[in-house]
Amino acid sequence: PLEPPKRPIEKLPEIDVDDGTKKVTIFFGTQTGTAEGFAKAIAEEAKARYDKATFRVVDLDDYAADDDEYEERFKKESIALFFLATYGDGEPTDNAARFYKWFTEGSEKGEGWFKNLQFGVFGLGNRQYEHFNKVAKVVDDMLVEQGGKRLVPVGLGDDDQCIEDDFTAWKEELWPAFDQLLRDEYDTAVSTPYTAAVLEYRVVIRDPLEASVDEKKWNNVNGHAIVDAQHPVRANVAVQKELHTPASDRSCTHLEFDISGSGVVYETGDLVVFYCENLSEPVEEAIRLIGLSPDPYFSIHNDDEDGKPLRERALPPPFPPCTLRTAITRYADVLSSPKKSVLLALAAHASDPSEADRLRHLASPAGKDEYSEWVIASQRSLLEVMAEFPSAKPPLGVFFAAVAPRLQPRFYSISSSPRMAPNRIHVTCALVRDKMPTGRIHKGVCSTWMKNSVPLEKSQDCNWAPIFVRQSSFRLPADSKVPVIMIGPGTGLAPFRGFLQERLALKEGGAELGPSVLFFGCRNRQMDYIYEDELNHFTNTGALSELIVAFSRQGPTKEYVQHKMMDKASEIWSMISEGAYIYVCGDAKGMARDVHRTLHTILQEQGSLNSSQAESMVKNLQTTGRYLRDVW
Ligand code: 2AM
Repeated sequence: PLEPPKRPIEKLPEIDVDDGTKKVTIFFGTQTGTAEGFAKAIAEEAKARYDKATFRVVDLDDYAADDDEYEERFKKESIALFFLATYGDGEPTDNAARFYKWFTEGSEKGEGWFKNLQFGVFGLGNRQYEHFNKVAKVVDDMLVEQGGKRLVPVGLGDDDQCIEDDFTAWKEELWPAFDQLLRDEYDTAVSTPYTAAVLEYRVVIRDPLEASVDEKKWNNVNGHAIVDAQHPVRANVAVQKELHTPASDRSCTHLEFDISGSGVVYETGDLVVFYCENLSEPVEEAIRLIGLSPDPYFSIHNDDEDGKPLRERALPPPFPPCTLRTAITRYADVLSSPKKSVLLALAAHASDPSEADRLRHLASPAGKDEYSEWVIASQRSLLEVMAEFPSAKPPLGVFFAAVAPRLQPRFYSISSSPRMAPNRIHVTCALVRDKMPTGRIHKGVCSTWMKNSVPLEKSQDCNWAPIFVRQSSFRLPADSKVPVIMIGPGTGLAPFRGFLQERLALKEGGAELGPSVLFFGCRNRQMDYIYEDELNHFTNTGALSELIVAFSRQGPTKEYVQHKMMDKASEIWSMISEGAYIYVCGDAKGMARDVHRTLHTILQEQGSLNSSQAESMVKNLQTTGRYLRDVW
């Protein structure tokens, strides 16, 4: 798991004092802000319901600076809620990584450690993935093992369907437990039905003369000592080329970002994170639907004129002042399906009462089926929904707070090695283009941007993007003699191209290399065999011992990487016996799951193990860091 750098703890509200009130701490582990939003929403609702209790919402990373502090603080907790998202290969979010490591590995704790804690866990995950809500399940189980008292069964939020409904259902189970816990016998207050207010930023229309100054701030190398999510650097696109042949009906882009002089450094296997921009077509459509002039220069604020925070609910930090067109281009996700809370925000600003009614109905329990059909199953975008309700015209402060979610930065496995390309970050990206049930052609925001981008080698007026690098645990073994097995069909090849560049550089530097095998898969040699010449070069130079390619749409039968692995079962077994590292990169929903099963089968058959022995061998490879997956 990734370990983000330690950072100083933000000041926590002082509630350790015993003033007789019941205290509830609501923790969140969030990546895109949904878990944080739920944590803050439940705090607000709980405050309205239980006026004799105190609630605080805490980012797990801000809670403690180190293990000792986690221990010390958790000892004092008596009632806690956890909102925990699961990512990638069953991993916690960045801001929960340190907590999760302490919680799952901290040796000091044991049976009975949490005996004073009453808790509830709500997980955020996606059922399409193998490790559905793993983090939440682990925390929930282990809390009970260590003596904690569960107030409500673990909530398994499924983002594949309607996670808001899962959250609502979980809350309904929680309230009776809270009623018992947080109301005393004298408290006769009956909770009135609670409706959350629509979130809103304070908006200030500004002098356009400020524009040039602020734009410069964003456009230039950031000037900060650190480069991270809040401080990305501007990187030019130096090279852009198509990797598929014209015979292919799909597209895959090779992109090189220029990082010379930017202060950005990376290691083989790291991820590049980048902020891309919406295409102009959806941006113009959004401007039309909002019905405001795109040009006035404005800023958004989550505090009032005196600097007092507007609300405690999740308002993402404001973006720098800019025009509406720029704001939509850079910050608004207008192509995802709107959540129910978005429909309510639109309803609040619909001038036609029948439109407002229909929006409210769609967001209500009675409209559940209609919502899952009309919005989720048809993958209707926010723009499509807004087009259907033309009288709904949210003001700017509402649009950016409650209607359009933030456009999320995208993560890509870097496909180069700094040993070969110290001043460049290479990216390998398949174009996303899908026909949606409504007939809309969905163009992937980032992949289309990459495909269309103009590189510096073609024009001085090239494209650029704010980027930063995120460390990964996907690393070659420190000892180059250790055997490596790489499995990466399609763009899953990306990090292995970096690995092989690194191995080639090591070899050229005189290092001795252990055996290596790469299983790559694509549809057809003539269409989408990406980096074919380079892969052959790696084999010819000995950077790669064996290249095995599965073509899925060439011969009479489908050949996938896992079929080729079965053919090579005995070689794989002997490499593992010699200490090989196994790496899998690519699609998590199908490929990685099938490859995992195949690995299990190979161990079972070759090692004459029974299923549970093979299982524990796989587990062991995982815990010792010899079986690593970079999957999405
Ligand atoms: P397909 O498109 O013909 O099904 C890269 O995307 C390659 O991975 C393609 O050849 C694709 O084959 C293949 N692929 C699709 N599903 C897979 C799975 N579950 N396991 C392994 N490879 C898969």
